[in-house]
Amino acid sequence: MTVRIAPSVLAADFSRLADEVRRVELAGADLIHIDVMDGRFVPVLTFGAIVVAAIKRSTSVPLDVHLMIVEPDRQLDAVADAGASRITVHVEATPHLHRVVSAIRARGLKAGVALNPATPVAALSDIVNDIDHVLVMNVNPGFTGQQFIPSSLRKVAEMRALLSARGSQADIEVDGGVDLGNAQALVQAGATILVAGAAVFHTPDATQAVQALRLAATR
Ligand code: DX5
Ligand code: ZN
Repeated sequence: MTVRIAPSVLAADFSRLADEVRRVELAGADLIHIDVMDGRFVPVLTFGAIVVAAIKRSTSVPLDVHLMIVEPDRQLDAVADAGASRITVHVEATPHLHRVVSAIRARGLKAGVALNPATPVAALSDIVNDIDHVLVMNVNPGFTGQQFIPSSLRKVAEMRALLSARGSQADIEVDGGVDLGNAQALVQAGATILVAGAAVFHTPDATQAVQALRLAATR
């Protein structure tokens, strides 16, 4: 499976958001990862569909929207209308996961489910055949620049085993603390989408950063 690189705009300079998005588009980003946070599911508040729409106007790269919010069903239509290609919701954030992922797919978008570090892989065992991707958090969600939790590697491998056992080819997206030191191991464990905030945006040369991650991923 080809590995895709998804720079996370949470690590961008928000005072120059459109320029930052174009910078990573030129750098070869496969997806733009966008963290919507509500100050409830996670401590931080970022933005919602209005800013997703503004990013959409700045780039032709598909938008990968990560909803770190409670009651994600209430935002799906607005985020879909804003131009998202893929929407990920947290298993911990809704009691009606099947309904939510079905609603995302009904809009013609790719639907994914994210797990926090303390949530076991088994929490997804009855939904894996109804989704397009899984997002494994390698850090507690909310902030860019946090340290990678090493047990995430085992979790990615367990997730790949669960998907294989169910005949699912779903992507495994890994998010948080991804860098050149762990990209290769994550891909070997089964990751197919690498989200990278600081490792791309906090470098002077985003093109070099994206290329280096891609190279590490394909070695
Ligand atoms: C964290 C967000 C991530 C974050 C990743 O809660 O979901 O997408 O921006 O940033 P880095 O790669 O810097 O850990
Ligand atoms: Zn994210």
